[in-house]
Amino acid sequence: MKKPNLAIVGATGLVGSTFLKVLEEREFPFDNLYLMASAKSAGQSIHFRGNDYKVEELTEKSFDKPIDIALFSAGGSTSQKFAPIAASKGTIVVDNSSAWRMDKEVPLVVPEVNPQDISWNKGIIANPNCSTIQAVVALKPLHDKYKIKRIVYSTYQAVSGSGVKGIRDLEEGLKGNDIMAAYPHPIAGNCLPQIDVFLENGYTKEEIKMVNETLKIIGDDSIKVTATTVRVPVFACHSESINVEFEKPYELDDVFKLLASAPGIVVQDDPANSVYPLAKDCAGKDDVFVGRIRRDFSIENGLNMWVVADNIRKGAATNAVQIAELLIG
Ligand SMILES: NC(=O)c1ccc[n+]([C@@H]2O[C@H](COP(=O)([O-])OP(=O)(O)OC[C@H]3O[C@@H](n4cnc5c(N)ncnc54)[C@H](OP(=O)(O)O)[C@@H]3O)[C@@H](O)[C@H]2O)c1
Repeated sequence: MKKPNLAIVGATGLVGSTFLKVLEEREFPFDNLYLMASAKSAGQSIHFRGNDYKVEELTEKSFDKPIDIALFSAGGSTSQKFAPIAASKGTIVVDNSSAWRMDKEVPLVVPEVNPQDISWNKGIIANPNCSTIQAVVALKPLHDKYKIKRIVYSTYQAVSGSGVKGIRDLEEGLKGNDIMAAYPHPIAGNCLPQIDVFLENGYTKEEIKMVNETLKIIGDDSIKVTATTVRVPVFACHSESINVEFEKPYELDDVFKLLASAPGIVVQDDPANSVYPLAKDCAGKDDVFVGRIRRDFSIENGLNMWVVADNIRKGAATNAVQIAELLIG
């Protein structure tokens, strides 16, 4: 692809503004750039790479001009309506919402795991849920060698995953003012075992997203997956305890080597010196950090690890920009 014309839909949001940061850092090439949001932000000016761009209101006519790639992060209903309009005009949409992730016609892509799936896109490519992205980056190299039978996820997820409302709930809560704009309970001083709404089976939507998206990205329906997702009073980075059972036996040394040499992973594991991935250290970074790597003695071929990544960067903006980089070759 020549230098693409690029659009950011949801450019004024938490993820949208991180798109711009990541595009700048990675010197992503483009010809024209269009920033779009709701009517509320239309006319607002955003400074980017030495130029001022006016935010335009997203409408059905927005994609009448030639736009090669559009990075969407403006919520599910916006994507549901506008991604097909953009795709019908020849734009390739990289969508951050959950609207298209499980659609059979839409590839769900993590560049370190299944870059090949980009090739069958029909105009929409979905970016997975933040908690799933970091998990599959860590699991894929192990699955390729030892074949995963079962995964148990327990997550500790940051409030930035709920956008600006979540951040405000924690900021105010820490000052003793328990507002509940994003959550059903105060988040300061609490761990909330509920992310998104409850489904009939007793799981939350976030938990089922982790289950379904893991299978689609890894491309193996035989894996058994279960999850408990928890919101914690942390501003940035999701932390995850991942328990895995493999079909084949493994040597712990080999697991360390595999993870250390896999793309996008940094191993931080020195228990004697209390070294392991920490949310505060991983914030603002693009890698997936893995530590506390150890054998699960309670089952055959079991492994435990602790996986941390910045949910707004690798969990959203960076992953989407990496997909766009693959699109332009
Ligand atoms: N936060 C995360 O960790 C995370 C991770 C992965 C995916 N996502 C997904 O990314 C999306 C955005 O999340 P966020 O945290 O960035 O939310 P946010 O900070 O609330 O930003 C939402 C953005 O969407 C725009 N928008 C809302 N309604 C619109 C409409 N009808 N037409 C056009 N633009 C509209 C807003 O524009 P205005 O400013 O004009 O209202 C704003 O730019 C969501 O789908 C979310 O699920 C978030």
